[in-house]
Amino acid sequence: MRVVILGSGRGSNAEAILAAEKAGQLGRARVVALFTDRADAPMLALGPRFGVPATFIDPAPFKTKLEGEGEARFIAAVSAAQPDLVVLAGFMRVLKPGFLNAFAGRIINLHPSLLPSFPGLDGIGQAFRRGVKIAGCTVHGVTAEVDGGPIIDQAAVRVEPSDTLESLAAKVHAAEHALLPATIARLSLSSA
Ligand code: GAR
Repeated sequence: MRVVILGSGRGSNAEAILAAEKAGQLGRARVVALFTDRADAPMLALGPRFGVPATFIDPAPFKTKLEGEGEARFIAAVSAAQPDLVVLAGFMRVLKPGFLNAFAGRIINLHPSLLPSFPGLDGIGQAFRRGVKIAGCTVHGVTAEVDGGPIIDQAAVRVEPSDTLESLAAKVHAAEHALLPATIARLSLSSA
């Protein structure tokens, strides 16, 4: 199963996926390309480290969504990589019908909350401020409804009274780093 990863920032989840592949823990999945909408994304450094092409694609003209010329550039680049699965790992843009239709049924997203609670930006901060006792993360199929597609898998973390926003974020990120590679591995084995 050919996997393409899209991200915008740190790339710690892309790194977890690549490390799982290197350790033989990604089932039949193999990462064939990384793409980012930010020229300064630290995740670009993963390319040379793991021997996978990592490329910045200009997302202009919009700031928070992928539409128009930027969307066309992404569709062309991702199509060229011939993905069976497109993984959004911290890709901070709303996808529009052009991209969604081009890869329909093949896009999954990682979100840092137990959806349907706390969709949108800052899922961890929203959960922390609401005072939940169980937080977590979700992998779901991507549809036109932001963070609203079918839930594929989730991992929960307990919020302790001593937790700060920072310590909770660290726990949720650790849960993400296990959940996302495991989900990709499972999908790759069930699609074989
Ligand atoms: C992750 O926590 C992911 O859940 C979140 O961005 C972070 C990316 O971290 N995604 C969203 O909030 C999407 N709405 P990373 O760049 O280190 O993988």
